[in-house]
Amino acid sequence: MSRIVLGVSGGVAAYKAALLLRAFTEAGHDVRVVPTPGALHFVGAATFEALSGNPVTTDVWSDVPEVAHVRIGQEADLVVVAPATADLLARAAAGRADDLLSATLLTAHCPVVFVPAMHTEMWLHPATQDNVATLRRRGSIVLPPAVGRLTGPDSGPGRLPEPADIAALAAVVLESGAAALAQDLVGRRVVISAGGTREPLDPVRYLGNRSSGKQGWALARVAAARGAEVVVVAANVELPAPFGVRVVPVGTAEELRTAMHAEARDADVVVMSAAVADFRPAAVAGAKMKKDSAGEPESVPLVRNADVLAELVTERRPGQLVVGFAAETGDAEADVLTHARAKLARKGCDLLVVNDVSAGQVFGKADNTVVVLAADGSAEEIGPGPKDLIAAGIWTTIAARTTPA
Ligand code: CTP
Repeated sequence: MSRIVLGVSGGVAAYKAALLLRAFTEAGHDVRVVPTPGALHFVGAATFEALSGNPVTTDVWSDVPEVAHVRIGQEADLVVVAPATADLLARAAAGRADDLLSATLLTAHCPVVFVPAMHTEMWLHPATQDNVATLRRRGSIVLPPAVGRLTGPDSGPGRLPEPADIAALAAVVLESGAAALAQDLVGRRVVISAGGTREPLDPVRYLGNRSSGKQGWALARVAAARGAEVVVVAANVELPAPFGVRVVPVGTAEELRTAMHAEARDADVVVMSAAVADFRPAAVAGAKMKKDSAGEPESVPLVRNADVLAELVTERRPGQLVVGFAAETGDAEADVLTHARAKLARKGCDLLVVNDVSAGQVFGKADNTVVVLAADGSAEEIGPGPKDLIAAGIWTTIAARTTPA
């Protein structure tokens, strides 16, 4: 259990703070909500008190003997300000202490994550951008806002990321510290394949696999939080799109292949985390195959799909880093890492992220352990931990191996 301070400033997205609070308490954390007076125009103190089980005040004149304006910040393991309005970012950058939240920000020794939400013009204004730069220079994390529907009918950058995305990223910071969300991918374009392809047999059936897309989603979410421009080529992923990420949906291995070639052309990093079917039915029946009919198959002949990763390696442009994934099991011939090293050499990629799936423990699960093998012979274990933590470790390895933009 960690002590989290949830700062809430006065924007309409404050209603999402209640869901974020819920995600934190359900993960077992002790949460103290510190709203600004403006935030209480949108959500009542009673909501935050009921959901957190802790008292809620906005000013420094309540609980004076407790010296709350100093103690709340000092005792926190993590401060998350969501939403962080333009005004809150300005006051934090200026070091003001004119309410309980700004005073708390001045006394916190722990990592601080600002999650901005405001109208696009306010976000893009040089004053706001300067304040964000100041806060980042001092070591705070300021997440890029999501792009999408704003309060009115308009849309653009400025939307609050979904509470589930914020909670997943906050968990990484709690576990690994502020460096896990360093702004070391700013200016990089990354393309990630995620999910599992489906190869049709007839209009209703397909050959598929058990990949959920969760690891690819975590990679996309963390890369966006670290400043990258992210495209995900998603094969049959039934999860809400992570914030700040462009999703290109695909179904089959062949569709994934076409999309990856198009998207990888000007990418700095290409990550193949999708489970791509190695084989597809040689023919797709035009009508549903029925039993006890002429259409009933005796067997299903398969043909090989192209190896997309190997093709992307061949077409790699100068400076581009290509990362493969491998789900391996040990067998009578060799252990997991020996098989993986052979695969790295065979595929020719720069890094290979290896999952040991011997006990079938990875698919669809939240926690994972991987080993990142590099073409230069190095091996680095990351985890065990949630997939966002694994993703943060993978991006740290990738960022160290690519030239800064
Ligand atoms: N991959 C790919 N195209 C395929 C199959 C796999 O790009 N047709 C990619 C996956 O996205 C992953 C990597 O290759 O990054 C490893 O996939 P895997 O299926 O484990 O490798 P294979 O070469 O198929 O080896 P195996 O003989 O173990 O199946």
